[in-house]
Amino acid sequence: MSTTLHTLHVELIGAAQSRRYPIVIGRDLLADTQLFTDLLGDRPVVLVTNDTIAPQYTARVMTALGDQRRVTQVVLPDGEVHKNLTNVEHILTAGLQDKHERRSVFLALGGGVIGDMTGFAAACFLRGVDFIQLPTTLLAQVDSSVGGKTGVNHPMGKNLIGAFHQPLAVLIDLQTLQTLPTREFAAGVAEVIKYGCIADGEFFEWLMGTSSRLKAREDSVLAEAIERSCAIKASVVAADEREAGVRATLNFGHTFGHAIEQVMGYGEWLHGEAVACGMVMATQISVNRGKVAPEDLARLKGFLEEFGLPVAPPASMDTSVFLGAMAGDKKVDKGTIRYILLQSLGQAAIVNDITALEIDQALAQLA
Ligand SMILES: NC(=O)c1ccc[n+]([C@@H]2O[C@H](COP(=O)([O-])OP(=O)(O)OC[C@H]3O[C@@H](n4cnc5c(N)ncnc54)[C@H](O)[C@@H]3O)[C@@H](O)[C@H]2O)c1
Repeated sequence: MSTTLHTLHVELIGAAQSRRYPIVIGRDLLADTQLFTDLLGDRPVVLVTNDTIAPQYTARVMTALGDQRRVTQVVLPDGEVHKNLTNVEHILTAGLQDKHERRSVFLALGGGVIGDMTGFAAACFLRGVDFIQLPTTLLAQVDSSVGGKTGVNHPMGKNLIGAFHQPLAVLIDLQTLQTLPTREFAAGVAEVIKYGCIADGEFFEWLMGTSSRLKAREDSVLAEAIERSCAIKASVVAADEREAGVRATLNFGHTFGHAIEQVMGYGEWLHGEAVACGMVMATQISVNRGKVAPEDLARLKGFLEEFGLPVAPPASMDTSVFLGAMAGDKKVDKGTIRYILLQSLGQAAIVNDITALEIDQALAQLA
């Protein structure tokens, strides 16, 4: 028996049409036949996952999908290095070989890598079919599965090829987090605390008070943390589906973080680890600008450290290295680097006037 703990909706107000999709959070959702029947009816399915997740979770999804439905399974190799056009083509070929049509639905069972690739394949297949996100990492549950950004990496950079394609639904099964490696779980926690920093001071305080229960992956705390994170992401995405304005605040910690990932080599630092460190840098600058209390920065650092997340940038990266890497970021706007700082704890500010001296000072303080 599955249990639904929260359901919320992402509202999209498009030029041509408005639409909404549900994010369902609960236990044992992946095994819930009724839930899949309600969403899919008798529509055929292309189920995409990777070779780490397949042995752990495919069987229960297959059972829930029932034996009357046409299901094509695609199992891709695990890893960010496989997030490329070749594997998108594998998905498309499997769909074509099994004669899937426009009414077929793609299911993405996995972390952000599988979600991004499957969503992009769904956006391209026969000029666009529906897809459902079944995110199995904390990062995917609170971030990548919500918002409709899909895509793959290119040898010239991360996530350079892609499309906005919103899912039909996001089903978050809390059970999957119990098998997630510690480092991957912590990387997701970095994105969770990000939402508190940029949009909800109360949520920040709640997280400070529940860190040990979150670390122990208690169901009720996970459900609450994911629900509040998704609600913030959903409201930002609803206001700005294509990242023209306010959606940029979700990049808090990401401008410095991307620079770290790029310079240290992707895979060396997990994305969430680089974001954690980037958030500390951005908060330090916010403290120096008199917007955030030094004690709040100390609490943020303490929280991140409790999860084993890094709070000091690599010693090998000085200001010029950061500036050089950030200048190449795809979020650079007409040559100006756009940063997200904190206006106060719980409120983000988009700025473009951070000086090299300020970065120098922050690096010295955090060394
Ligand atoms: N589309 C967006 O808006 C968006 C936002 C943020 C990040 N992303 C993308 O997301 C990707 C990162 O996602 P991620 O952190 O989920 O990484 P991931 O998909 O690589 O998953 C991390 C690792 O955990 C394994 N795993 C997944 N679920 C598991 C489970 N329940 N139990 C055991 N192991 C499990 C995976 O096989 C993988 O080895 C990046 O490619 C990033 O660009 C996209």
